[in-house]
Amino acid sequence: MTSESPSLSDTDPAFGPPPGCPAHGIGPGVPHRLYGPDAADLGDLYERLREEHGAVAPALLHEDVPMWVVLGHAENLHMVRSSSVYTRDSRLWTPLAQGMVKPDHPLMPHIAWQPICSHAEGDEHQRLRAAVTAAMATIDHRSMRRHIGRYTQGLVNSFCERGRADLVSQFAEHLPMAVMCEILGMSEEYNDRMVQAARDALKGTETAIQSHAYVMDALSRLTTRRRARPEDDFTSHLITHPAGLTDDEVREHLRLVLFAAYEATANLLANALRMVLTEPGFRAQLSGGQMTVPEAIEQSLWDEPPFSTVLGYFAKQDTELGGQRIRKGDGLLFAPAPGNLDPRIRPDLSASMQGNRSHLAFGGGPHECPGQDIGRAIADVGVDALLMRLPDVQLNCAEGELRWRSSIASRHLVSLPVRFEPKPQQDVDLPPRPMAVSAPHSGRQAGPRRTDQAATPQPRPTPARPVLPEPLPAAPGPVRPRGFWRRLLHWWRGE
Ligand code: HEM
Repeated sequence: MTSESPSLSDTDPAFGPPPGCPAHGIGPGVPHRLYGPDAADLGDLYERLREEHGAVAPALLHEDVPMWVVLGHAENLHMVRSSSVYTRDSRLWTPLAQGMVKPDHPLMPHIAWQPICSHAEGDEHQRLRAAVTAAMATIDHRSMRRHIGRYTQGLVNSFCERGRADLVSQFAEHLPMAVMCEILGMSEEYNDRMVQAARDALKGTETAIQSHAYVMDALSRLTTRRRARPEDDFTSHLITHPAGLTDDEVREHLRLVLFAAYEATANLLANALRMVLTEPGFRAQLSGGQMTVPEAIEQSLWDEPPFSTVLGYFAKQDTELGGQRIRKGDGLLFAPAPGNLDPRIRPDLSASMQGNRSHLAFGGGPHECPGQDIGRAIADVGVDALLMRLPDVQLNCAEGELRWRSSIASRHLVSLPVRFEPKPQQDVDLPPRPMAVSAPHSGRQAGPRRTDQAATPQPRPTPARPVLPEPLPAAPGPVRPRGFWRRLLHWWRGE
């Protein structure tokens, strides 16, 4: 405990007038704003805060509401794992209890307490989370991977003949929604409208309320249907779990799972594809087999975690963190983005983190993301299959033209325009294969870690249903056991 260091709620001159005071001004020595012009580049701001304050820094949210931002890797982990000291229940937050955070505060959707597992603590958290994790445990991972592969094939089919696409709006935002609708048991609800509604609700545009209502209507209908007649899907298992969730609790947890999965996984897909397309070393390692797609995804989780920060954790008692005096009722921003770049664990940011999964992207402690295997599977299978189908894919704009939409919580790539030689469609039930429309692709293989492509015969020009290639007895390359393609097909179909 460093008694010299000021608390966030102190009126120490180093921190200016008390937060909320009309005279409160921003200048040297007072906390930085995590919004507005100060925060045009949040990554840069976090590094300045680290230099000025160390592992835990005072900062200001919108309307100058004070909040600690936790920048150190060890300090973030310590906080999320210490449930006797920190809680996710925002009702303990002093600025909220004192009315300093108004109901129309822009971050209210993240702050307002809700009866869901991510805001609950202790026995109540265990009750709600047990139902969620038990329902997740019933997901058959083989058939989930098959669905991811089929949806990836379908999405690539929708643009492969055109030779160009936007991999954010036509791929990264669609794939997680399609897979989640399937997992929840409402595959019929997956369409453009559902993707637009989720995107709009999260962006907080003027139509966000209607878009949110559109998604909630679908989840309410699903809850009613499965309560009346359960099936073998996530929603039915959530409803029938001994924790006895009410219809409201079921609907709210479906919302939590759908939005968390959609937003985080769409960001992960877009970030990983951007890395492959813009960082030559990355792509060369994938093509050369020194790195696998899952390892590339893991590197992306280190460098650009899909949730930059999570709002928030709240101190249940006076304590100390990273040399700062934390008072009971103070709020703290769990911050995977700066935590993952902590120079104490990554002195050289260009060094590969291959084989090291101790990043903060999925949180930790009792609230650690229970859906991480699903998020990883969507990204692994989706990126692998897309690169397999479009081995010559390249960025269709200058790298400097890429734009992000940033908030405290996350950083979304706005679009990722790409071009490639037009390709024929493929049967969504078959594993993806590189196929050229005109001249066979003779150049370098730019796709990931496929060392066996030379042995793969060119498909016959039947765009609708390409047939599986016959094994070539005389082909060079790895010797495959008999029945290899049949087994591959069974695996792909999840049989
Ligand atoms: C790349 C994808 C994903 C990332 C990066 C991610 C990240 C996170 C993070 C940082 C948290 C908060 C941890 C904390 O509060 O300390 C979280 C919580 C949660 N995530 Fe994920 N997530 C992803 C995918 C998913 C998926 C696919 C699902 C569901 C299928 C899911 C369901 C949840 C739930 C239910 C919680 C709340 C858990 C609790 O509070 O007990 N997430 N996730």
